[in-house]
Amino acid sequence: MTDIEAGMGRDVLINEVGPRDGLQSQPKILETSQKASLVQALLDANVASIEIGAFVSPKAVPAMAGTEQLISEFPATSAQRFNALIPNMRGYESALANGIDLMSLVVAVSNTMNEKNIRMSTAQSINVSREVLARANQDGTKVQAYIATSWACPFEGKIADGDVVDVCTRLYEAGASKLIISDTIGAADPKAVQQLMTTLTETFGSDNLACHFHDTRAMGLANVYAALETGIRQFDSSIAGLGGCPFAPGASGNVATEDVVMMLEQMGFRTGIDMQKLLHASDLAIELTGTAKGGKAKLWIEQQIKHKQSAA
Ligand code: COA
Ligand code: ZN
Repeated sequence: MTDIEAGMGRDVLINEVGPRDGLQSQPKILETSQKASLVQALLDANVASIEIGAFVSPKAVPAMAGTEQLISEFPATSAQRFNALIPNMRGYESALANGIDLMSLVVAVSNTMNEKNIRMSTAQSINVSREVLARANQDGTKVQAYIATSWACPFEGKIADGDVVDVCTRLYEAGASKLIISDTIGAADPKAVQQLMTTLTETFGSDNLACHFHDTRAMGLANVYAALETGIRQFDSSIAGLGGCPFAPGASGNVATEDVVMMLEQMGFRTGIDMQKLLHASDLAIELTGTAKGGKAKLWIEQQIKHKQSAA
């Protein structure tokens, strides 16, 4: 019997990555006030966890400049729901100084991806991560780790499961609070997800893991389901399906939050998210960027909400 058939763990945590992964490679760079309106719409929809931005070099990713101003637009109570991406100690210190107490390091399994993304080899990035994790341990803050290119790398091709386990082990032993297994370019399929996530849940326990899928090959939702079956109950997704890494050619948007929430709620999982308000956030993401398409099920969900309202 799978975890899902056994009715295990009905609560699922959605970490909304639209303001970071979603906006980082958009051709149009949004004003801080525009980003803030999107984040507010997500807060209003009761999204419990939001990746608000990144403390990275503004030369490397111009769209993420100003994350500190963005955070300052919100009260400290909202900041408790935020997390941010950091590539190094400087990023950690900036995030901490700006009231963020959950940060995400990023380490790709493949060397070439690390060199393109953060200009370090995999070994160097693990060393930098170790230093950050040791510091976080002293400060009592939580630092988790994106394990990028966990199934495939745009430069090196298919990634072996054993290499992912290896990187995960080093970061877990160094104190990473969670390992976010990431399909950076959206190349995984449900069978590959089931295989890798079964190994990882057996090794690290499902509570210490989350998944991050891109929908490049339209397998995002199927991959979420495959991971759910292995016991994963935390997923990254992006409002209106925004997303993509500027350093990973071929990466398209993340799996859309509205689609993931719809699928989970229809299967009896609880996300705590208000769908009607989430759709307002999706409309806003489309309006602000001019490129986001919205979740594949968005039209259908809108029609259901209208039917319900006219019946009431
Ligand atoms: N935040 C802001 N600025 C930073 C920084 C941080 N966390 N870390 C370094 N910098 C600055 C340095 O001060 C330096 O600025 P200067 O040119 O004005 O002196 C510049 O960035 C380069 O620093 P250096 O240490 O030489 O780094 P690098 O050029 O080797 O770049 C990274 C390394 C990690 C800083 C850069 O590649 C980066 O920010 N990558 C992020 C990639 C990303 O976000 N990808 C998408 C998410 S997966
Ligand atoms: Zn991503």
